Amino acid sequence: MSTHAEDDVVAPASIQPSSMAAQAAPNADRAVAGKTRELDTPRLRKDFADQGAFLYLEDFLAPEVTAQLAHSARSLLDEVNRNYLPGHKQGGSVSRHTIDTLAPFIAELYRSKELIGWLEQLSGDKLQVSPADDPHAYALYYYTRPGDHIGWHYDTSYYDGRRYTLLLGVIDDSSCRLEYELHTRNPDVPDQPGSVQYPPGSLVFFDGDKLRHRITPAGANEMRVSLTFEYVTDPNMRPWRRFISNMKDAIAYFGFRQVFRQMTSRGKTAGKGRA
Ligand SMILES: [Fe+2]
Repeated sequence: MSTHAEDDVVAPASIQPSSMAAQAAPNADRAVAGKTRELDTPRLRKDFADQGAFLYLEDFLAPEVTAQLAHSARSLLDEVNRNYLPGHKQGGSVSRHTIDTLAPFIAELYRSKELIGWLEQLSGDKLQVSPADDPHAYALYYYTRPGDHIGWHYDTSYYDGRRYTLLLGVIDDSSCRLEYELHTRNPDVPDQPGSVQYPPGSLVFFDGDKLRHRITPAGANEMRVSLTFEYVTDPNMRPWRRFISNMKDAIAYFGFRQVFRQMTSRGKTAGKGRA
């Protein structure tokens, strides 16, 4: 069902390792603050609410942050876990556990107080980072082979509270599009379809239980990488929901070894606070 670190994930010539220059990681907080202070956040907060807890911004990340993320994504190609769920999903993922070891800047950006504070203004919710044993807290998604895609779904919250998804464009040499439908869970507002090909540096932010969405299939010789951050309003999770969530992550994203090895190694510490 899934194989680890497949060796036939090939980057286009324009992004081969030889073009990668070693670079110092930017300061995440400073970079985020530099962009958010230029934004009309009250207007964006209204847009987010009017669109049923959804916002797209084409230009969000500072250029040095986008460059750092792209550099990390390329350097992690050998760590990609490929998955294939017939009729629903085909693609690759790198979990937060691998990112922690090999791309710590991504973890720093995820925890940026400036970023979280700004997302709290947009959502109107107090946000928390996902627990340490959640492989989905931050992850990279790779679309590197023809047909790589994910079908229509919600980012369902298995937590006791809401789950917000932040998508950041990292690399896009593809024809893939994020297609979505707003207001599907609101009977008082007609469904509103939308589609965006979000480029490197762009942002998509939404309440996972409210946005129906998919990524359309990649074509030949295409490559796309996006970064996902997950924030929650209550990090507690009932044990049976934890089981369902872990099985889903193991099968659809990161592989059993990645998901359950982490649970085992973290042992009872990981289980506390979840009952
Ligand atoms: Fe999703």
